[in-house]
Amino acid sequence: MIRSVIRGSGSALPGKAVTNADLAQRVDTSDEWIVERTGIKQRYIAGEGETTSTLATQAANKALEAAGIAAADIDLIVLATATPDQTFPATATQVQHALGCNGCIAFDVAAVCSGFLYALGTADSMLRTGMAKRALVIGAETFSRILDWEDRTTCVLFGDGAGAIVLEAQEVDADGPGVIDTKLHADGEHNELLYVDGGPSTTGTVGKLRMRGREVFRHAVVNLASVLEETLASSGFTADDIDWVVPHQANARILDATARKLGLPAEKIIVTVDQHANTSAASVPLAFDAGIRDGRIKAGDLVMFEAMGGGFTWGACLARM
Ligand code: UT7
Repeated sequence: MIRSVIRGSGSALPGKAVTNADLAQRVDTSDEWIVERTGIKQRYIAGEGETTSTLATQAANKALEAAGIAAADIDLIVLATATPDQTFPATATQVQHALGCNGCIAFDVAAVCSGFLYALGTADSMLRTGMAKRALVIGAETFSRILDWEDRTTCVLFGDGAGAIVLEAQEVDADGPGVIDTKLHADGEHNELLYVDGGPSTTGTVGKLRMRGREVFRHAVVNLASVLEETLASSGFTADDIDWVVPHQANARILDATARKLGLPAEKIIVTVDQHANTSAASVPLAFDAGIRDGRIKAGDLVMFEAMGGGFTWGACLARM
């Protein structure tokens, strides 16, 4: 069978780390509140000259290097972001130009925090149908630019960064490597719980992020547990078969609650929320790259990716390394 095999990964963070104590000097908050409610200790914030496309390009270059594949051999770029450099053209085309692989397919996917899962599912389908042979799948964000820095209920939660993987279509056996199954969902009913209060077609402005955190939390735990169960059932695996869960990093308490619902031990979950905070579409590939580079995720491991975000959108993807 043809599967999309993960050949390499890379990530990039802005130069500036901002601690909870730094934020407490700016808004009415404390390190204690942020750590207890979210697990976040610091986040990286983009400075001058650092944009979604520059971070994405750095992450993509590292993924290509890890894969041992030249940019010229990439024929598909799918980039997930809710914070593009420009309303159009797609940030993927800027990354393509910076990498020097002009001419291949390149487009953005907008599914906010689930964006990387949507991008992965899209690229996997295109590789398996033969539209492309090697893909860069990127999640990249500069959420700091859409935060209301006066709103303590949201500004302490997010950070900037980018992560990327290289996928290659390969003929493999059923127990071989590659993406096994992806399940994606959306429910537009809950727009008002997590959204940006601007846009080109409404206000003509970029807008700022607004969130009713407690309600989002409740939906996140239910939707994530449900899509994880759905993905396991359709692929014929059980929670015990999973070596690593690479979740969207919104809140350490969501990771714990979801793991508990599925009976997954905490040691199997890759956690980076303490270091990166919530980087939306970048958080899953950032966490994956951390797990690869420190040697936890190894060849042959069964890895479950999962995410939930604005829309609502949510999804999961099971892959063999
Ligand atoms: O990535 C997309 C998905 N996003 C998420 O999954 C986020 C989901 N939600 C969450 O992670 C949590 O709901 C939050 C971390 C956003 C909030 O935690 P919570 O335990 O649900 O707190 P809360 O919103 O119920 O607020 C509790 C209290 C409030 O004070 P009162 O009304 O009880 O007096 C808030 O005003 O904490 C207060 N508060 C803060 N205090 C200090 C809210 N933000 C802060 C803050 N510092 N930064």
